[in-house]
Amino acid sequence: MEGWWSTTGGFLLCLSASLLLQGRANTFTINCSGFDQHGVDPTVFQSVFNKKDYRPVINFSIPTRINISFTLSAILEVDAQLQLLTSFLWLKLVWNHPFISWDPEECSDIKKLAITAENLWLPDIFIVESMDVDHTPDGLSAYVSNDGRVVYNKPMRVTSICNLDIFYFPFDQQNCTLTFSSFLYTEESMLLGMDKEVWEIMDDSCDHGRTQGEWELLGINKANPKMSVGTSLFDQIMFYVAIRRRPTLYIINLLVPSSFLVAIDALSFYLPAESDNRAPFKMTLLLGYNVFLLNISNLLPATGTSLISVYFALCLSLMVLSLLETIFVTYLLHLATIQPPSMPRWLHSLLLHHTSPTTHCPTVPQKENTGLGLISTHLSGLKEPGRLGVKELGPKEAELNGGSGLTRAQLVDLWVQFGHMMDNLLFRIYLLFLATSVTTVLVLWST
Ligand SMILES: *[C@@H]1O[C@H](CO)[C@@H](O)[C@H](O)[C@H]1NC(C)=O
Ligand SMILES: *[C@@H]1O[C@H](CO)[C@@H](O)[C@H](O)[C@H]1NC(C)=O
Ligand SMILES: *[C@@H]1O[C@H](CO)[C@@H](O)[C@H](O)[C@H]1NC(C)=O
Ligand SMILES: *[C@@H]1O[C@H](CO)[C@@H](O)[C@H](O)[C@H]1NC(C)=O
Repeated sequence: MEGWWSTTGGFLLCLSASLLLQGRANTFTINCSGFDQHGVDPTVFQSVFNKKDYRPVINFSIPTRINISFTLSAILEVDAQLQLLTSFLWLKLVWNHPFISWDPEECSDIKKLAITAENLWLPDIFIVESMDVDHTPDGLSAYVSNDGRVVYNKPMRVTSICNLDIFYFPFDQQNCTLTFSSFLYTEESMLLGMDKEVWEIMDDSCDHGRTQGEWELLGINKANPKMSVGTSLFDQIMFYVAIRRRPTLYIINLLVPSSFLVAIDALSFYLPAESDNRAPFKMTLLLGYNVFLLNISNLLPATGTSLISVYFALCLSLMVLSLLETIFVTYLLHLATIQPPSMPRWLHSLLLHHTSPTTHCPTVPQKENTGLGLISTHLSGLKEPGRLGVKELGPKEAELNGGSGLTRAQLVDLWVQFGHMMDNLLFRIYLLFLATSVTTVLVLWST
């Protein structure tokens, strides 16, 4: 790489550069004697400063090599709506300036000097994805070593476009690209290299990272594809920055309350179906869930379909379904006690077949009291005082009611039993649906 130094062109300063390669040189481009007493003599750098508008090379057919590294010190914002990632970088550019060299022995061991960057030629490295103009502060300096190595550090706030996928929010990972390239210089004039290995960049970013915020740095990868614009080819370095959202905030504020409400909704099936409490209770839960959804809307990503919105919609539908189920069962029980319709024979035999004391049902105690209990009390000829419309039917009426020889009381009991069975069955379907959907969502999130 440095072999081209030895080519002695028409330039005055070439000779000294070549001597550097051959060991201790007697002539250097910068005469720094007296720097320790009088400070830097501006005139000795003047010839370098005068050429700052041009790329510092001895042979123009040899490209300048710029070595790049950066420290990702903060991830400030990830905007899913505008698809923008705002981050803060400390960019480090290193290159060789062949017209600067001095002998540190002569210069009281000064090995490097800070020089105002405005006086030096600076490479026009920019980030292709950047959607904002470069706000580099004025008055930055660059370190120049006695062998001509220039190190230029600058802080950069980068607002870069990034393809953000919020489907897995809040367990999402994003992979954003930062492509460093030159604005002007094609491959023939400028080559880009790495100043550090990628893992060093990663380690530095983790050590110096100032973000304890929402995003966590997962990894950095790189690639070196050339970019062709028209007929010219530009060298570039791409860094893939993988970041992951810290989901704790969202778990606490979104998932836990929502899961609690759904769990309470599921548990509310254990409220007796006969009591007037169940439907209002579920209604209140539904209302509460709506208030919750209104409250959290600013925590959710503004655009795109995320799994979490599907999950919330699912929870809401489950609650609505469970309310509908309660209305249905309440109606059934009401109908059974007020005006029991005749019971089809198959339903009757089904009920008889399924009635066993070991049936597990959310309303088992209730069922025994009002269902099976009623049968036994009525069969023994006792009147239940609290029940409306329960009166024994004459044999003639019983014949009319389905023709199965049932008394009205038995019919009522059977219908009540049927109501509880439906309640039980629908509750199980509800649980099954709940379990399936929650598992599906969880599996999707964990992949
Ligand atoms: C550097 O400059 C001083 C005077 O400023 C001169 O005496 C000395 O010889 C010069 N050294 C070289 C190597 O040219
Ligand atoms: C510049 O470099 C090229 C390629 O290395 C070489 O062919 C050419 O002779 C050099 N020119 C001068 C003036 O040294
Ligand atoms: C840039 O990196 C290359 C390879 O890593 C190295 O050979 C070269 O000396 C570096 N250039 C500077 C100016 O540090
Ligand atoms: C990011 O995407 C690039 C290409 O699209 C891929 O090469 C790289 O491995 C990805 N990085 C991670 C951490 O997924």
